[in-house]
Amino acid sequence: MKLELELKTGKPEEIEADVLAVPVFEDEDVASQEFAVLRSGTDGLIAEVLQSREFRGRPGDFYLVPRPPKLHAKRLLLCGAGRRAQYDADRIRQLMSNGFARWRQVIFKRVALWKRQGVEVDRTACAAVEGLILASYDPEEFKTSDRAFGSSEVTFILGGLGPLRRGRVQHNIERARILAECVNFARHLTNQPGNIVTPAVLAEKAEEVARQGNLKIEVLDEKQMQRIGMHALLGVARGSVAPPRLIVLSYMPASGRAGRKQRKGPLALVGKGVTFDTGGINIKPSQSMEEMKADKAGACAVLGAMRAVAQLKPQREVLAVIPSVENMPSGAAQRPGDVVKSLSGKTIEITNTDAEGRLILADALTYARQLGARELVDIATLTGACVVALGHVCAGLFASDDTLRDRLMQASRRAGEKLWQFPLYDDYKKEIQSDIADMKNSGSRWGGAIYAAKFLQEFVEDTPWAHLDIAGVDLFKDDTSPLKGATGFGVRTLAELCFL
Ligand code: BES
Ligand code: MN
Ligand code: ZN
Repeated sequence: MKLELELKTGKPEEIEADVLAVPVFEDEDVASQEFAVLRSGTDGLIAEVLQSREFRGRPGDFYLVPRPPKLHAKRLLLCGAGRRAQYDADRIRQLMSNGFARWRQVIFKRVALWKRQGVEVDRTACAAVEGLILASYDPEEFKTSDRAFGSSEVTFILGGLGPLRRGRVQHNIERARILAECVNFARHLTNQPGNIVTPAVLAEKAEEVARQGNLKIEVLDEKQMQRIGMHALLGVARGSVAPPRLIVLSYMPASGRAGRKQRKGPLALVGKGVTFDTGGINIKPSQSMEEMKADKAGACAVLGAMRAVAQLKPQREVLAVIPSVENMPSGAAQRPGDVVKSLSGKTIEITNTDAEGRLILADALTYARQLGARELVDIATLTGACVVALGHVCAGLFASDDTLRDRLMQASRRAGEKLWQFPLYDDYKKEIQSDIADMKNSGSRWGGAIYAAKFLQEFVEDTPWAHLDIAGVDLFKDDTSPLKGATGFGVRTLAELCFL
């Protein structure tokens, strides 16, 4: 989407737009100077609607006034902003995405937002642009974000401003636009069904990302993986007619830009790319199995983040390592009880073929270390247990290193993607001890998200490592919401991390 920006001082009634969005608080202080401007600027409309209780300003409340008298804007959209004390960038992003997704079919070429006090100009502008672009992706069809609002060009107007530094806002908005479009890219790819996006197709998409962003790419096929001994990954792939891939993208900062951050050495982003997870021989129940087309959400998040990295150009070298397979039952499929030797040399007893994500990640993490990664962050729809623990709000965070953990938390706050940390005490390790091999790939039921993480930790050795379990946050499952489907969770956190 092409996006022009206009920054406006002056009065609400003077804004020329197809729609003027005004955040309205639940506990609006109707005696304040700020409200007086809005009251007179909207010809008393806001006060009237609030008083009638038709609109209360709660998050998710919207009230559209067509052809408001006295306003230059063609429509006035009152957006519930919740309680004033909780007004922040996340709220703004949400009200813009929810609001505009709802009126997606309408062609809005000029979209305005009235800035409320409490969140600074930059943050308001960026969150609004992100929300607007996220709303432009339509999960009901295989549309790209470019067909937004029936128009590929939108002018975003931010009104209600005092004196400001235009250059900086302009620059930050461009960054917000890139990030949000990369989120849409990841959402779109994650939403693709398993018959369309196979591991080979995922690799083609990665090639496209590499070409557009000037990144280096290497794709290993089955033979190459066999040669180096990636049998943890290959064992999972055996049951499917779709051959596996291991995708490696690399971003190098221009030499002039290499600063202090460059000295940290390459950061590797590792994303689980299971294009469909039936469970294999330990087959899943049919209930909601179709959602397992999104078992590649981690891979898509890493691809989205790399797309952003290529455009935003951090000072640090970044690698993406994406193991991709389809997990199927068949006559050739891996059996429970099989033993495989991973790329690291460690042997694994397969006690559950449905615990496939950790197997392919094990080899990918080892490969990332062999490529010289100095920090590892993996992201995966790894365990149902994580969903039991955290629901659909936070992703699980595991980290072997406190500074990496702190940077991830900081990145996640910037992104508005919530993380919650789990423990990695060694006491948990006995759950994945095998009688016949170095370890087994599944533990008992209670604490399953942690056993998965402890399993992965066996493959990172002493490299600082963090793991994000996004099983509960990869999909937004509200059928009535136009934002349903893949969320692209992780794209912005991972991209932000590359700058910290
Ligand atoms: N892809 C699933 C995890 C998942 C579950 C993601 C629900 C999203 C929603 C993963 O491969 C899996 O099947 N995990 C098993 C592990 C178990 C067999 C140890 C699980 O969580 O049940
Ligand atoms: Mn599984
Ligand atoms: Zn899976």
